[in-house]
Amino acid sequence: MHASLVFALYLATSAHAGSWEYLPSLADAAKKHGLLLGAMTNVNHLRSEHAYKTLEQEQFAITTAENSCKVGPIHPQPDVYNFKDCDTVFDTANAAGQKVRGHNLCWHSQNPPWLNSSLSHDKLVSALGSHIDTVVKHYGTKAYAWDVVNEAVSDGGSGVPTIKTEYPPWMPTVPDFIDRAFHFARQAGGPQVKLFYNDYGAVSMNPKADRMYELVKGLLQRKVPIDGVGFQFHINHNMSFLMPSIESNLKRFAALGLEVQITELDIRACDEWSTCDAAALQNQADMYADLLEICLGIPQCKVFEMWGFTDKYTWLDDFQNPTHKDEMPLPFDKDYAPKPAYHSMMQVLLNSSTAEV
Ligand code: XIL
Repeated sequence: MHASLVFALYLATSAHAGSWEYLPSLADAAKKHGLLLGAMTNVNHLRSEHAYKTLEQEQFAITTAENSCKVGPIHPQPDVYNFKDCDTVFDTANAAGQKVRGHNLCWHSQNPPWLNSSLSHDKLVSALGSHIDTVVKHYGTKAYAWDVVNEAVSDGGSGVPTIKTEYPPWMPTVPDFIDRAFHFARQAGGPQVKLFYNDYGAVSMNPKADRMYELVKGLLQRKVPIDGVGFQFHINHNMSFLMPSIESNLKRFAALGLEVQITELDIRACDEWSTCDAAALQNQADMYADLLEICLGIPQCKVFEMWGFTDKYTWLDDFQNPTHKDEMPLPFDKDYAPKPAYHSMMQVLLNSSTAEV
């Protein structure tokens, strides 16, 4: 269908759409650009809320389990796996024709009590191997990609080590845990399951992004099997000035021959000191649109995924948010109605010249 006709239809439907039920799908519009547009889901809401599940399946082409596939929930004891919740997210998505990003195989957080720093080097290596082997084989090609290692690069300015010196239980005991994790994952999943390094605070040209760049360059030089880098994109309303730097940063990773994915996007529309008024929501919408345009302009940017989709459920209610303020970070409001961010992204998708119409 011609883009202008799609746009006319979009205007016609959204003009009298009082709720999400008549909304054109972001994922469908993104598909024309070869882009998978998605949102993280939480297994409990998927199970219990019809509206949550329906809107998520209509609007998005790819999802990630908020917590259910992490090491703690899925591997509670050394010889016990509990796939139930992670299976629900995979099976629900796959049945609806959606892809799934597995998240994650190795992290310093949300680990089970038995997987701790008192374990010896050899025990840790064997735990890493058996966990990755079991989980990656369990899902096989149902997983579009896995975040093999999450958040291992040091925070802060320049002059600090590339990898966090404290990253329990893996650091300091197993200094080459990243190489090992990727090798284990490729061995278990084969070439069809894409393997990602995923991190936060590295979206623009800053010292942490430089370290992440050095890390993945080193992995490639050592022929460690990595397919791409996931950028978490938990960002704030006052970061729009960074857009040119974000674009350059994503492009330098893509130039290494890696896929770049926006994996955990949410934008706080306001903070403790500001109000989430109409202007703030419009600014947020412009930022969502700018990021989507940047991604569409980079052929290796193939996934654009948000960390949730409705302001009803966002981890930011509790994260670095002492007053638990409603910062309205996502493109649908608490009643599942589309916000300006939904409309701005839709317009980018319908107007952008990379559309295959
Ligand atoms: C968060 C979840 O959203 C929360 O429910 C949980 O309490 C903590 O983890 N980076 C990541 C995600 O890689 O796994 C985190 O998810 C958000 C930050």
